[in-house]
Amino acid sequence: TYILQNQDLVRKEDAYVHIDDRGYYFGDGIYEVIRVYHGQAFASWHHIKRFIASAKKLDMNLPYTEAKLNELIDLLLHKNKLTDGLIYLQMTRGIEPRNHLYSRESTPVLTGFTQPFTRNHVVQTKGINAWLTDDIRWLRCDIKTINLLGNVMAKREATDNKCQEALMHRDGTITEGSSSNLFLVKNNVLYTHPATNLILNGITRQLVIELAQTHQYKVIEEPFPVDVLIHADEAFITSTTMEITPITSINGQVQTTYSIGPVTKDLQTKFHDTLP
Ligand code: PDD
Repeated sequence: TYILQNQDLVRKEDAYVHIDDRGYYFGDGIYEVIRVYHGQAFASWHHIKRFIASAKKLDMNLPYTEAKLNELIDLLLHKNKLTDGLIYLQMTRGIEPRNHLYSRESTPVLTGFTQPFTRNHVVQTKGINAWLTDDIRWLRCDIKTINLLGNVMAKREATDNKCQEALMHRDGTITEGSSSNLFLVKNNVLYTHPATNLILNGITRQLVIELAQTHQYKVIEEPFPVDVLIHADEAFITSTTMEITPITSINGQVQTTYSIGPVTKDLQTKFHDTLP
């Protein structure tokens, strides 16, 4: 398997990380996870645009155009002969002796790899248990940074409590999952947290909102408190890897169960129909 290292494709054994990479010392970097269906990168322009937006928000240099990033992604997936899987793309600020203060002169380090991956049908038809916990993350969750400690702590806690995903709330307001966005359904209306600094505006989230609206569903993007979880008819998460995955129970600070309802099923079918 080959790794994208800046503009080159190198064998995995030959890829290296520099000890002075700011990603290594500070988590000073950004990333994207892109799905590949039948050899085609899905929604890659959305991902590339968000990658560039993340770089700008962090005042990182970006020596690549959108078109160049797209070309590099394509080269990587063809070199690795990936048909169904994921592309991971990461860029750190660069290589400098450890210092909180970054210079604006360093050259970013771009890394990419691919990984085979296919839909988990069992999870998408049977649903998952979700674990409700505190959102302890920083206030720029809109940036897709590799600094993911709040997310990984929540995920471990969820797994230790026999749940497949953590849902997080900040002072009683539900934000999102540890690596997904949350939707609730009540009386055929969809509810999700607005795309503010408190969540990552998921590409799947955006596509699902668009798809739902196209099919005459009302979508309300408003913050809601944890008690709303108890009154919802259906709940599901969205992400590049999980697509639309139903939630069948919430555990932890709030406890409730859901059946996998008609709206979730309808959107799953419609979403699958849009994929290559
Ligand atoms: N995670 N929220 C968070 C915190 C995420 O990390 C992700 C994605 C999402 C969903 O975004 P999208 O629909 O663009 O995948 C929401 C990726 C898959 C990951 O870290 O592996």
